[in-house]
Amino acid sequence: MSMATFDYPFADRPASRVALGCMHFGGNRNLGETDKTDSLRKGRKALETALAAGINFFDHADIYGGGESEEVFGELIEEMAVPRDSILIQTKCGIRFADNPRPGDPHRYDFSENHILRSVESSLRRLRNDRIDILLLHRPDALMEPEEIAVAFAKLHASGKVRAFGVSNHTPAQMDLLRDTLPFPVVANQVEINLLKTSLIDAGIVSAGREPAPGHPADGSLEYHRLHGIVTQAWAPLAYGYLSGRKPDTDDPRIKPTADLVQELAETHSVPPESIVIAWLLRHPAGIHPIVGTRDPARIKACARATHLRLNREEWYRLYIAGRGTPLP
Ligand SMILES: NC(=O)c1ccc[n+]([C@@H]2O[C@H](COP(=O)([O-])OP(=O)(O)OC[C@H]3O[C@@H](n4cnc5c(N)ncnc54)[C@H](OP(=O)(O)O)[C@@H]3O)[C@@H](O)[C@H]2O)c1
Repeated sequence: MSMATFDYPFADRPASRVALGCMHFGGNRNLGETDKTDSLRKGRKALETALAAGINFFDHADIYGGGESEEVFGELIEEMAVPRDSILIQTKCGIRFADNPRPGDPHRYDFSENHILRSVESSLRRLRNDRIDILLLHRPDALMEPEEIAVAFAKLHASGKVRAFGVSNHTPAQMDLLRDTLPFPVVANQVEINLLKTSLIDAGIVSAGREPAPGHPADGSLEYHRLHGIVTQAWAPLAYGYLSGRKPDTDDPRIKPTADLVQELAETHSVPPESIVIAWLLRHPAGIHPIVGTRDPARIKACARATHLRLNREEWYRLYIAGRGTPLP
């Protein structure tokens, strides 16, 4: 079965409806994996499976695996001779960890021209590439100067190193600030949305006395994206696997009933549970682009299968109510 696609405004080729997040390509640090040979082996399987399933959009960041995720991906793309024009590569910049580069430096965000340019050069080297399709600003920098970002973006675009720009974890007001100055459109905002993280959808359901409190700075994000042609990318779309077989390491009471409902619908539709979790995002009219972070071949195929499944309104709302954990007003 071929994968459904959709279009980014800048791109000359459609993006697969489901994208692969490559955060763990340098080893899943949460599980203590740091052996590069093992990362290459798991990454190779994941990449082969994703490409065979029609996935052509790959999400990175300069910081994933301390740079090793991009490195492993670059090595694999070269080894497998994947034609550059057959895939879309997105990466991010702007987060700097503590003690980097000097001991005592704090964890911080950095949208300075110098840091953006240096970060892109390093990403290109690790990815063994001369072009990034989309560059995202990873987390809003409290000290951001849109004019300085504009200079960096203009240089990157003019040199052909970056084709398009976007943001991640930004509020509508922050995007307004950037859009007012940048000579390029903001093509995407990557935010956390999944069945256990419904706050951006909850924000649009007004009900006195319930969370989220009206006035939350991210209120209206999904509507803002739709109005301005900005793609909503969903990070952690699988809710970390908690709804599809992973033993939760939290006692969140929403998990069990939601996972049970996911399983029930999976049986109804004869699909794996991951297909239901992803189909829930795909059903939203904002055209949400899920960035699935699994390297497991069966789970990648299950996510790809979601593109052939359309949940009905009643199924969507049953899942939403279970995931948000409180009844609708
Ligand atoms: N912009 C941002 O601030 C931001 C933040 C975080 C992530 N991201 C992006 O979003 C992508 C996805 O995020 P994510 O990986 O955190 O979340 P996710 O896609 O919701 O979950 C994927 C993780 O859950 C594990 N998992 C899934 N099902 C499982 C199961 N049944 N049993 C055991 N483990 C299971 C996967 O391991 P397996 O590989 O074993 O399946 C993988 O570690 C990342 O790769 C990255 O590209 C962006």
